[in-house]
Amino acid sequence: MSDRDFKMIEPNVLKVLGDEKGPSEAKYDGKIYYRFMDFFYTYTPNLDELSSEEVSHLCRARASYPNLISKTNVDVRELFKQIAIELAPRTFLEIGAGSQPIFYNQPENQAMYIISDADPEVIQKLQNENNKCQIFSSSEYKLHFNDHHFELVMAVFVLHFPFYPNQLTELYRTMSPVGAMIANVYRRTIEAKKRLSDDVKSAGFNIHIIRDTKNLCKDHEYWILGKDLNYLQKCADTLQRISAV
Ligand SMILES: C[S@@+](CC[C@H](N)C(=O)[O-])C[C@H]1O[C@@H](n2cnc3c(N)ncnc32)[C@H](O)[C@@H]1O
Repeated sequence: MSDRDFKMIEPNVLKVLGDEKGPSEAKYDGKIYYRFMDFFYTYTPNLDELSSEEVSHLCRARASYPNLISKTNVDVRELFKQIAIELAPRTFLEIGAGSQPIFYNQPENQAMYIISDADPEVIQKLQNENNKCQIFSSSEYKLHFNDHHFELVMAVFVLHFPFYPNQLTELYRTMSPVGAMIANVYRRTIEAKKRLSDDVKSAGFNIHIIRDTKNLCKDHEYWILGKDLNYLQKCADTLQRISAV
């Protein structure tokens, strides 16, 4: 493929033209780019090395083509929604909701279900009287809730990007003693997974990791973080039962 088959749609973010998935690597303007989610490319295969600004460029590029959002993405979000419905938390935080929050325009979203994202543009678009939203990022990591507030936290397709120790510490503070964060992790190298799990443990959390036996995407795992091991096991059992269906 040549430069003419790609377009730079955000700084350092290429898109392959047409509606066919592109090759895993591409050369553009003499530089190598690596595929991210079928149609988009950035300059490194290791997305956990991107700066916050680069993450926003990549995610905005992807969000501006809603018709290219993959079935895998939809399936994982639906799985998480079913788990949340079954666990029925009174308080819920979604991290990195992007343009596709797990719950949107639900009665609970006015007070008890909070949508968050690192990108202020995302929050500006989602925020309205039916949906309580806030920025949650490395630079704005304060959650405006009391200690032990959240019973369930979820992040869908977020933890392949950098997730910062100050965010983890704030999540630990605001998580209920019998609460959990459920997230999916993919695309991280073994070293990058180890760094993230060390940060998770340093913040005080236990982790329960489940390999995705369905391999919905490459090296795909579910990470369940929390304080109470029995509750983590309950979440793991729920996830495995629902995902087996
Ligand atoms: C690939 S999108 C996924 C969006 C949505 N969850 C979905 O499954 O379609 C990743 C989202 O996470 C946000 N994000 C990335 N890193 C983050 C972080 N450290 N903290 C909070 N949000 C983050 C991005 O701004 C983006 O909106």
